[in-house]
Amino acid sequence: MTEPHQPPASAPSASSAPSANRRNFVSKAAALVVGGLISVVAPVAGLFTLLDPLRRKGDTRGMVRITSLAALPDSGEPRKFPVLDTLVDAWNRTENVPVGSVYIQKTGENTVRVLNSVCPHLGCSVGWNAANHGYFCPCHKSAFAVDGSIADPKSPSPRAMDALEAEVRNGEVWVRFQNFRKGSPDKVPV
Ligand code: FES
Repeated sequence: MTEPHQPPASAPSASSAPSANRRNFVSKAAALVVGGLISVVAPVAGLFTLLDPLRRKGDTRGMVRITSLAALPDSGEPRKFPVLDTLVDAWNRTENVPVGSVYIQKTGENTVRVLNSVCPHLGCSVGWNAANHGYFCPCHKSAFAVDGSIADPKSPSPRAMDALEAEVRNGEVWVRFQNFRKGSPDKVPV
């Protein structure tokens, strides 16, 4: 019995072999580059987390409850309150950490005005002067009106006191606490 005729296996053509080699080389090179990047980036990211234990992940960029609306006089006299926040670092979570203070003024039945108590000039603490119904910074004598605007043109402060976003929720005052760059005419968050 005669065997059926088998066609000879086709040999790779002269043009396809170099092209396959090129593809192999590019794949291997890409794998090496990606692997190298991962081995560099991952340890650096880990080191950044470990060596920055005081990095804050607290709630200061969110709203913080400050007080109840009932604690504010109906006369519109501002009251000063500490701002307490929760700070979280790589190892600890600490509740009720003082991060600043604010003046809150009741401006209506359900509305408030909130000012950061830090002087925009060089960062001293601004006081409320009930006799003058205005704010005064004792460090370099900046004077502010009750709405935070500059009351005396000779004040060295380059801008008004920093107003903060606030909400009254169910009779409680919530504030988005923020500090701003000192000595700048612009209100730049820091
Ligand atoms: S720090 Fe307030 S006037 Fe200078």
